[in-house]
Amino acid sequence: MPEAESEEEIDRFPRSKFLEGATLGLGGVIGGLVTVPVLGFAVAPAFLHQHTHNVDLGPIGDFTEGQFVVATFMVDPAAGEVSRRTAYVRNNGLLKNLPSFTILSNRCAHLGCPVQPNGPIFQDKEKIQKIKGGLEVRLIPTLPAGGFGCPCHGGQYDTEGNRTAGPPVRALDRYEYSIRNGNLWLGKTYSVGKVKGQGANAQIAKYPLAGPGEHVDGIESWLYPVDPPHG
Ligand code: FES
Repeated sequence: MPEAESEEEIDRFPRSKFLEGATLGLGGVIGGLVTVPVLGFAVAPAFLHQHTHNVDLGPIGDFTEGQFVVATFMVDPAAGEVSRRTAYVRNNGLLKNLPSFTILSNRCAHLGCPVQPNGPIFQDKEKIQKIKGGLEVRLIPTLPAGGFGCPCHGGQYDTEGNRTAGPPVRALDRYEYSIRNGNLWLGKTYSVGKVKGQGANAQIAKYPLAGPGEHVDGIESWLYPVDPPHG
């Protein structure tokens, strides 16, 4: 009799049912692991990604309208030359009576190599600005008729920084700017999904600064729940 009871118990909880329950439980754990980082991303404050530079690039009169210049500058005077960065700056003229500039980072949106102008750089026309505090800003006119290209893996961008070919997953990052006492100042860097239009009339899909290789829009952007520190 005890044996018959035991068989009944076994029928009530057959092995297949046990495995089914175990599978559902494991699925729940995995689901939690995937969901938690996504929620973490959703609530992560955007200010975690802000990088303010506050660099004086000198008088706006030194930027010829419609022409790109290669601007090199130090973002941390105490650190010296190792903090020197490069941006591509174009004076777009006036927009509603205010000066408009396009300021592209030279950091490739794929893995961070320095992108280059696809066109001549007029080294002999270099201007060196001595900024207050002994800082030096160098401005060299360039004509990137073919946009910008990355020497590392062939990424290509147009003159608004939109990715046109190769492995980069988004447009070139940009700098915010302000005009103070007639000088052009760089502010925070930010990332860009896509730019529509050109120059002063460009419509820019703006996002908090993302790391190289990171999508900022579309479903792929959900793959980056935690963003490691980057500059
Ligand atoms: S780092 Fe620019 S294409 Fe890879």
